[in-house]
Amino acid sequence: MPDKDGNITFGVVGLGMGANRAQVVASTPGARLVAVCDIREDRAKSVAEQHGCDWYLDYEKMLERDDIDVVYVMTFSGLHAQHGIMAAKAGKHVICTKPLDVTVSAVDALIEECRKQGVKLVTDFDQRYSAKAQTIKNAVSCGALGKIILAEARLKWYRSQAYYDENGGWRGTWTLDGGGSLSNQTVHFIDQLCWIVGDIKSVYAELSVMSHNIEGEDLGLAILNFANGAKGAICGTTTFPRSLYAGIEIHGDRGAVLTTRSKDIEWVWAEGCETDPESLHVEPKVKNAVEDMIYAIKNNCEPESSGEEGRKSVVVLEAIRRSHELGQPVTL
Ligand SMILES: NC(=O)c1ccc[n+]([C@@H]2O[C@H](COP(=O)([O-])OP(=O)(O)OC[C@H]3O[C@@H](n4cnc5c(N)ncnc54)[C@H](O)[C@@H]3O)[C@@H](O)[C@H]2O)c1
Repeated sequence: MPDKDGNITFGVVGLGMGANRAQVVASTPGARLVAVCDIREDRAKSVAEQHGCDWYLDYEKMLERDDIDVVYVMTFSGLHAQHGIMAAKAGKHVICTKPLDVTVSAVDALIEECRKQGVKLVTDFDQRYSAKAQTIKNAVSCGALGKIILAEARLKWYRSQAYYDENGGWRGTWTLDGGGSLSNQTVHFIDQLCWIVGDIKSVYAELSVMSHNIEGEDLGLAILNFANGAKGAICGTTTFPRSLYAGIEIHGDRGAVLTTRSKDIEWVWAEGCETDPESLHVEPKVKNAVEDMIYAIKNNCEPESSGEEGRKSVVVLEAIRRSHELGQPVTL
């Protein structure tokens, strides 16, 4: 139930990047941050002090509160479904950060439980809510780029060994991170390929550990075939000398968009196909996962970035891992 002022009430669990999400909740009109939770007391206390809300070390205790409408799950990736299911069973709507979990079966269990309990599920792919991503989606779907030929997800970042070792060393593991540079970082752009270009039919991938002491990949390469006939590629690594760029490059027979070489969208047009980018601009209806959830609750509709949407990139990640293990292409 919303509070007496009509605000939707939130609890956040997991306070690494979750501290940022607590800030997003606190600064979103129509939302109120009621409580935060982390097994690390230093994090729970400091975020709670910053926002003047309650804090918990025990997630189950936070879930006992009946004045929390939505739980924002920001724990390790391999715990997302478990923590989301606990929230749904307690009657809370769920926002879950990316990836929705590290296996398709865990994601399906989360989607199913939310459906069963009649609660909303939002996947927090924060970049989807940007005007940049929505404008590119519009440019592809209205045909401005023509017939899509190649769509790439590219990420060249630096991550130190200390990054992988901190907080119990969950990053770079299969069970808690779903691998490494693809499942943790590049997943934003794998998601954008699925969302903008459409279903992926087959994947061939090779995963490597080049410069870190981790289980999953720090360099992932994949070749994709989309159902619509377009080709695709994924190159995601945390071995670059410094974090240089992350984004997508899509081209068709009339034009191209790139987000890898500048902060803005770079447009490239074939001769005679020049289009005013302003005519393709889309202003997002909701600007983040919190607004998406509030809109979905108030209008009793599916969120823009739903559980089903979040499932798509996990299906691709699982196929990538299978292809790497088998040494051959995998059909999705
Ligand atoms: N832009 C983005 O969308 C974005 C950015 C960074 C991280 N993430 C995602 O956020 C998640 C967390 O990543 P991070 O970098 O913040 O990691 P992190 O290790 O810094 O934070 C995770 C926190 O979860 C807490 N936690 C673990 N189990 C818990 C439990 N049972 N109860 C309460 N708290 C628990 C840990 O103590 C830790 O403080 C990952 O899934 C990651 O993919 C998303």
